[in-house]
Parts: sequence; C-alpha cells; structure tokens
Amino acid sequence: MGTENYGATQATGLWGWINARFPLDKMLKEHVTEYYAPKNFNFWYLFGVLSLVVLVIQLVTGIFLTMNYKPSAAEAFASVEYIMRDVEWGWLIRYLHSTGASAFFIVVYLHMFRALMYGSYRSPRELLWIFGMLIYLCLMAEAFMGYLLPWGNMSYWGAQVIVSLFGTIPVIGDSLAEWIKGDYFISDITLNRFFALHVIAIPLILVFLVVAHILALHEVGSSNPDGVEIKKTKGPDGHPVDGIRFHPYMTVKDTFGLGMFLIVFCGIVFFAPTFGGLFLEGPNFDQANAMQTPPHIAPVWYFTPFYAMLRAVPSFLGTQVWGVIVMFGAIALLVFLPWLDRSPVNSIRYKGMISKVALALFAVSFVVLAYCGMTPPSPTLLVLSRTFTAVYFAFFLLMPWYSRIDKTKPVPERVTYHAH
Ligand code: HEM
Repeated sequence: MGTENYGATQATGLWGWINARFPLDKMLKEHVTEYYAPKNFNFWYLFGVLSLVVLVIQLVTGIFLTMNYKPSAAEAFASVEYIMRDVEWGWLIRYLHSTGASAFFIVVYLHMFRALMYGSYRSPRELLWIFGMLIYLCLMAEAFMGYLLPWGNMSYWGAQVIVSLFGTIPVIGDSLAEWIKGDYFISDITLNRFFALHVIAIPLILVFLVVAHILALHEVGSSNPDGVEIKKTKGPDGHPVDGIRFHPYMTVKDTFGLGMFLIVFCGIVFFAPTFGGLFLEGPNFDQANAMQTPPHIAPVWYFTPFYAMLRAVPSFLGTQVWGVIVMFGAIALLVFLPWLDRSPVNSIRYKGMISKVALALFAVSFVVLAYCGMTPPSPTLLVLSRTFTAVYFAFFLLMPWYSRIDKTKPVPERVTYHAH
C-alpha cells in the first residue's frame, strides 16, 4: 500500500463498513478526538457537559414516568402516588426527575454565569449565546408545564397565577389566557395539552437547540478563562498551540467532575428529595383543589427571581401589565448582552473594578430576588425586591457605558496556564 491517506474508508471490518456508508469516524474526529479545547479550562467549564447529562437524565426518567402517569384531572394525582408506592423503583424514577429539574436550573445558571464572567457571549459566539437563550426559554416552558402534571394544589394555583399574567396584556390578554388554558379555568383540557407539550413538543425543540448550540460552539471554538482566542496561535501541525484534544484530556477531566456532581445529586435524591420544600413544594402533596388556595403561592425556586420582580412593580393606570413587562424584560435583556458589552477585553480577569463590582452586584441581586420571590410578601421584602430589581436592570442598561470607561488590564498573547 502506498503512503496516500485513504481515510476511514480504508478501515476494515464493521468499522470500515459503517464509515464507507456513514461519516461516523469523521464526526467523532471533528467533534471529539480532534476538537481542540483550550488547555486552561477551569471548574466553570464543566457545567455545559453537566447540562447535557441532566438533559439525558430528564429524557430517560421522563419516558419511564410516562409509562405509568395518567394525564387526566381525575387520575393524574393518584397515578403519581401509584408511581411512588406501587411501581417497581417508581419512587426513584420520580425523584430523579423532580430533583433533575432543579439540578438542570442549577447547572444552567452556573453555565450562564461562566459566560458572564468570561465574556463567552461576545463575538464570534453571539449565535451560540442566542441558541443558549432559546434553550433557557424552552427550559422554563418545559419546567412550568411539567409542574402542572402531578395535579397537586401548588401545580394548580401556580399555573393559575402564571397563565393569568397573560391576561394582563391589554386588548388580547383575556382571549390569550383562555386560548392557553383551552378552557375558562385550569382544567383537564389544560392538563392534557401541557402533557403533550411537556413530553414531546418542547423536548424535541430542546434537543434540536442543544445540537445547534454545540455545532455553533465547535464552529467558532471554545473561549476560555483568559478570553484569548486560541485559534490565533497555531503550531506547524495547524492546531492551536494552546489547545488540547477534547478526548482524552477533557473527557477525563469532565468524568471526574461528573462523579462529584453525581455524588451530590444522588445524595439529594436519596436523602432530601423535597430539599426542604424548595425542589418539591409542600402544598403539592395535596391534590389540586379549585376551592382552596395554598396559604402562600410561590413558584419553584428557579422562577422566584422573576416572580419577585413581578411583585415589586405596583399596578399603574389600572393595569398590572407593568410587572409582567419588567419580568419578561429581565429575561429579554440577557439576549442583548453581546451588544451591550463594549469592553475591549473578554474576560473578567482583565476587566477593571467597575465591571467586577457590577457582576458581583448582579449575582447578589439574583440571589436576593430569588429569596424575596419565595417568601411571603412583607414591607421589608418589597423594599428589597424593588432595590435589587433596579440593581439587576442597571447591570444591563448601564453596561454600554461602564464597560467602555472601565480601566482594563493588558491581555496576554497566549493563555495563562500553570501545570499542577
Ligand atoms: C440544555 C442546556 C444546555 C446544554 C446541554 C449546553 C451545553 C453546552 C456545552 C457542552 C458547552 C461546551 C462546554 C462548556 O463551555 O461548558 C456549552 C458552551 C456554551 N454555552 Fe451552553 N448549554 C446549555 C444551555 C446554555 C444556556 C442556557 C446558555 C446561555 C444563555 C448557554 C451558553 C453557552 C455559551 C456562551 C457557551 C460557550 C462557552 C465558551 O466557549 O466560553 N448554554 N454549552
């Protein structure tokens, strides 16, 4: 045989047979064994992979739950109890799924925070960021609809509150809320359509978006904690000198991180699945009751920062729509980050004091708002919610200004990396 490289089609056996007909080897090379990731990835770069793992956990446990769940107002609550008590390992499948929902938001919030720290949303990664934001929106819709399915009392009243938000929109609001419910109130019909959307429509879109997200990432290449583009410095072999193959180097690192994550995750699933009412709320252990509201209606923790904003805005000119605008605005602003950030550098490491303080205040505001949203209203909480809603918005709206005037440090040519 000559020295020509005939590629994968030269391989023999099953592997060769497949590769002559399907680009498996080519895809594995491009996305795994010959995808060059920056060698200075740190802890924060673990959460993308963890989001993928949690997505798989949710899909698999979701399929098994669906085998015994009954999507009807008359039977849903009892079918969940049946899964918990009578179905073999049903309790485990259900707790994996309910804990998985919260885990999803924890890893995705940390994943997004990493992007804020290291400017991962900046050029040329804007589309990657937009795919991420679409994933986040789908995730919220998915979680909201899933929460109605057990037909507990908080499922019922939570859905009631959220759907009625659409009712505050002028002119079309009432018809829109009715259209979403398919009825005049949250009913069996609503439960049925939420089931269809939760088990098939949104997961399909989610999986499609995740594939697009990763393809976009591999097209432009990963950023890193220094915010230095590794593609700029290539070695004689044409590969980035500061890059290492995703497999085996990153897969080994990620496997260790995954192990750590699974220890904590399983600890919660086995020993604290309700997580003190944060992951599964108390009133949801009672069946939906249209005649009795829970003493305090609050969404699950991952929605509470936005719920606090909603409650912080008073009604004005006889409508509550302002709170709804602020709440959705808070999410929409994230989409525009690539264009709001005018700093000459990507990473927080080389940004100045103003950007560092702004990011810290943003993180504090998110946590404080989350607390405010899950606690029964009080005058003190109202002041806190209003103050931190203002801080949250200031982070974004003042960014074009402070990111430009902030004093930055010189960015090195190559990534900084210290072998341990
Ligand atoms: C199901 C949810 C998601 C999955 C499975 C996922 C997966 C991933 C993976 C595997 C990576 C590469 C590893 C890493 O950098 O951590 C990544 C990178 C990235 N993701 Fe996500 N992601 C999800 C949601 C999101 C969301 C909600 C956003 C933001 C709104 C986002 C923004 C980004 C950005 C900007 C990067 C590039 C990071 C860089 O190179 O510095 N992702 N994602």
